[in-house]
Amino acid sequence: MRSLNSENRELWDEWSDEHQAMWNGATDNGRLPPTYSPLPDADSLDEWQAEGLPEVSDIDFIELGCGGGQGTVGAAQDGVQTAIGVDFSTQQLRHARRLRNLYGVDAEFVAGDVSTIPVSDDAFDLAHSGFVYFMVADLDAAFREAHRVLRAGGHLSFDVPHPVHELFDPATLEFERSYHDTGTRRDKHDEVLHEDIIVMDRTISDLHNALVDAGFTVTEMWEWPHSDDPDDYEDTDMSSSPALKAKVPRTLGFRAVAE
Ligand SMILES: C[S@@+](CC[C@H](N)C(=O)[O-])C[C@H]1O[C@@H](n2cnc3c(N)ncnc32)[C@H](O)[C@@H]1O
Repeated sequence: MRSLNSENRELWDEWSDEHQAMWNGATDNGRLPPTYSPLPDADSLDEWQAEGLPEVSDIDFIELGCGGGQGTVGAAQDGVQTAIGVDFSTQQLRHARRLRNLYGVDAEFVAGDVSTIPVSDDAFDLAHSGFVYFMVADLDAAFREAHRVLRAGGHLSFDVPHPVHELFDPATLEFERSYHDTGTRRDKHDEVLHEDIIVMDRTISDLHNALVDAGFTVTEMWEWPHSDDPDDYEDTDMSSSPALKAKVPRTLGFRAVAE
């Protein structure tokens, strides 16, 4: 029987062109596709550095589940010392390498599962993962791996769909299930992801406790965005709606330091 992660990998390979086309839609007239910085803004960077993160030019950076490479290329543009992206989808990596070549930055892309990261121990200062861990079957293994590849004092930052947001149907704003119903689910109405992708519903304490069990100290959490006015939200995120985002946060993020 195929494992859950390998089923998701096949779906990502199948879905990759369409998924990347969504992010690159505005680049038809010669503009470069967008990237983003996984590093914090200036104020937060001071705080992270007070908690042990090196100067940007000394940071060895790894992105776990790098997709089309936007964050890894963004880190390279920010001037980190090393920028490596890992993803299990060869099609997503093809887009990532193309993006790197378009920007002409120094970044490496490696095929691998975030539960068995194909890099050596104690090699990185900052690991970032955007919207990946909610699809990973063995979260304990994934966090242990993130801990293994980080140096002592290294930082892991990641976000996932907010577990409360995931309880609602974005169209009707009705509860679809209970917060306590954790486990495996096929994503049904999320147009940003393949409709058959397998996601794991976990509570906020599940995520927190798995980090602690893997040897991390949680230093920060965020729930983003927050405004109770739907007009503050553009309707660009097809997996949510302004009305839903005005009621519950879309994203839950963590920063944790490896002990
Ligand atoms: C929603 S995309 C996010 C990509 C990127 N982090 C971003 O923020 O743009 C999720 C990515 O995670 C990858 N992924 C999912 N599960 C994975 C796993 N177990 N190991 C490695 N990559 C995984 C998928 O192939 C996909 O590229």
